[in-house]
Amino acid sequence: MQSILFVCLGNICRSPLAEGVAREIIKQNNLAIEVDSAGTSGWHIDEPPCEGSRAVARQHGFSIDDLRGRRLSVYADDRFDLIIALDSKNYRDILALGFAKEKVRKLGDYGLNGADVPDPYTYRDMEGFEAVYAMIERGVKNLLAELALLKA
Ligand code: 4NP
Repeated sequence: MQSILFVCLGNICRSPLAEGVAREIIKQNNLAIEVDSAGTSGWHIDEPPCEGSRAVARQHGFSIDDLRGRRLSVYADDRFDLIIALDSKNYRDILALGFAKEKVRKLGDYGLNGADVPDPYTYRDMEGFEAVYAMIERGVKNLLAELALLKA
């Protein structure tokens, strides 16, 4: 069983959305891949995903309302095969915590020209969340396609 951990700053906007998108694709394709998400900060521990992320997930036909924020830890999370950073700052913070460089990647490296997925936390409109969703969906599909030899 392969395992993937998605990591952003707060674990309430981007990484829960990435986890939710991955969870849907895994379910639809019956893949043996475990997914989870965490944040480099401890600012939103036990909080549900932000309203924009929950709404955009709903618009795309699934729910991430069950997810709760938690903080990334090298002790608890070293068991994951792949740690996927949502932006470059997250990537540096993950390495600074002591994770092995070989298993840390950026979502942007999967068909997004290395782009950072922007932090949507301060957006007031849904357009920002839609743009973030589109990037996350493309990156996650490409990532899972590579891991599971699925068609992206
Ligand atoms: P996330 O977004 O990293 O995508 O979960 C953020 C959530 C909260 C904060 C920053 C980014 N914050 O500053 O509290």
